[in-house]
Amino acid sequence: MKFFVDTADVAEIRELATTGLVDGVTTNPSLVAKAGRDFREIIAEICGAVPGPVSAEVAATDAAGMLKEGRALARIADNVTVKVPLTWDGLKACRALTGDGTMVNVTLCFSANQALLAAKAGATFVSPFVGRIDDAGQDGMELVREIRTIFDNYADLNTQILAASIRNVTHVRQAAMIGADVITAPAGVLQKLAEHPLTDKGLTAFLKDWSATGQKIV
Ligand code: E4P
Repeated sequence: MKFFVDTADVAEIRELATTGLVDGVTTNPSLVAKAGRDFREIIAEICGAVPGPVSAEVAATDAAGMLKEGRALARIADNVTVKVPLTWDGLKACRALTGDGTMVNVTLCFSANQALLAAKAGATFVSPFVGRIDDAGQDGMELVREIRTIFDNYADLNTQILAASIRNVTHVRQAAMIGADVITAPAGVLQKLAEHPLTDKGLTAFLKDWSATGQKIV
């Protein structure tokens, strides 16, 4: 399972990348707006910091415009993954971009049928937005489960399920149990994965006992 970090904050990405646990990055227009910097510069810097796929989203809404923007973004670095919305135009652009050999992440997926279309359009990744479905009072993880079942039914569907809009550690565990190929989550959620009160308690006790021995390892 791959871990992507969902942010356009380059310093945050560089810090997390030192763990060796970050397999890629997703950005979106809202995250870029929050970063308050030039989009192309941000993407170039992230691509230099993380060798894995870095999603950069188009802003056009028509297929020709998405293709033009997508090709410009793909020229920034080899690991750019062009993000297109799950619309008919987005699917057309996805097909053309994957034909170029560019990785594509079809985003804003809210139904299993949409995911099926993204896979048929040759998407590298499809992003079901788990947290936003939960926000609307439904079960976002059920969508990930449905997509996993559909993709497993057909050997010719090679699109990776990128569970997005992951808001907490429970989402990560559930996505892993279902078999999502990738999760993308804010840095804070990824950091919390390592936390457990019994780990802290155990470590405190071990350190106290070790200190009483008066020994040093080096
Ligand atoms: C994924 O690619 C999106 O950028 C992201 O996961 C959206 O998450 P949000 O619903 O918390 O904004």
